[in-house]
Amino acid sequence: MQGPSSITSYVAQRTGTALSKQQLMRLNDAIAARIGGRPEELYLEHLKSTRGAHELAELMASISVYKTDLFRDEGQLEAVRSYALLPKAKERRPLRVWSAGCATGEEVATLLILLSETGAHPESTVLGSDISNHALGRAQAQRFSPELMRRVPEVLRGRYFHKAQDGAFELVGLLKERASFVRHNLMDVPYPLPPGGGGFDLIFCRNVLIYFTQSAFEKTIACFAERLAPNGVLVLSAAEPLLQPQKDLELVRHAQSFMYVKRDPSVPPPKPSAPPSAFDTGPRRAVTGEFRIAPAVGVPAPPAPARRPITQELPVVKSPEQEHEHDGEKLFQLVLEWAAAGASDTETESGLKRCLYLEPSLACARYLLGMLYENKGNKADAASEYRRAMSLLREGRAVATPFFLNDARLKVVVERALARLGYPDR
Ligand SMILES: C[S@@+](CC[C@H](N)C(=O)[O-])C[C@H]1O[C@@H](n2cnc3c(N)ncnc32)[C@H](O)[C@@H]1O
Repeated sequence: MQGPSSITSYVAQRTGTALSKQQLMRLNDAIAARIGGRPEELYLEHLKSTRGAHELAELMASISVYKTDLFRDEGQLEAVRSYALLPKAKERRPLRVWSAGCATGEEVATLLILLSETGAHPESTVLGSDISNHALGRAQAQRFSPELMRRVPEVLRGRYFHKAQDGAFELVGLLKERASFVRHNLMDVPYPLPPGGGGFDLIFCRNVLIYFTQSAFEKTIACFAERLAPNGVLVLSAAEPLLQPQKDLELVRHAQSFMYVKRDPSVPPPKPSAPPSAFDTGPRRAVTGEFRIAPAVGVPAPPAPARRPITQELPVVKSPEQEHEHDGEKLFQLVLEWAAAGASDTETESGLKRCLYLEPSLACARYLLGMLYENKGNKADAASEYRRAMSLLREGRAVATPFFLNDARLKVVVERALARLGYPDR
């Protein structure tokens, strides 16, 4: 296998990607196919020029993962709906939402539907952005195969999609026109602004930053923080916890999910609503020009757990016997909150180790411990934790936590981490 060249290093750096071995191979193949007879330096010069953006996107296509879904991670969406969207919708002003790294647009459609279902102002908008022109082309069409519709509740299918003759489902025009798309590389500043300026009320960037290097991750988070409106909410996938405290961003746990809120002391934080049910399951109704709050039907969901101050410290444990009185899963939750609230890496590491002492099969804690080691440059220990997490997952022994990734997703992320380190996962 060819190693990194000046071109592959440039592509990795320009896109923020931490290249795995497989990606490096695919990238080398794509470069070989596109460079023609040109010397490497000339091709690199072209890539770096303003005309090279298209070429960069083509190379990026060889290493990108476009996997996405409608209503991906329903638990997290429900938390966002009740913590962020419902209270903001009551403000009766157009909400500005951004799906960064939207791939083929499923997340954009999901967000448009959620806005409608929460009764957001009819002029609320969703911006979708991605580095890939190809993905954006498909996103703009907002047409989805029947396979992608499997998570969409029946009632929402009827309400928000037309079935085309070829069997595809197309989002209704009234929602579609509230979406706009822009090609944007998250490594490029300035970041997009919402229509009319100001900041975004909600930024979704899920399953994008897991592929980034640590420095690209940090830069992106800082730029998102800057683009959020006061009390705006940042939603990452559960695999992307912010283990370091971020200026302006506060970790909030709600309904077993994590979100990050840009605090503005002059604006009171949103009051989370305990929603009656995820979606109205009533009969089909016509979509009019107005987004309406769906009448609540169905069994009320249990109230959302009370928010714990994130500054809460880990319980002081004086002896191993006493340690057993604590539950590893609960401690894991606390460690995450504690880490995001400002604990040092060393403190977070020791917290995670304590969780694993209490519950050695907590694969998510192993994964995060691996991430900490990896960030410190300790590849061998990182790989060892990732491998142990992988064995737990493969053997069905992993203890799942309801607020973190489910086993299937955690497996993908751990596989990815091992590949990134260049270690086979067996
Ligand atoms: C796995 S998809 C995530 C789709 C969606 N957010 C979700 O969670 O279902 C990752 C997307 O990130 C995009 N991406 C990767 N690097 C990027 C960058 N530097 N700037 C913008 N988008 C990027 C890829 O093109 C791809 O479409």
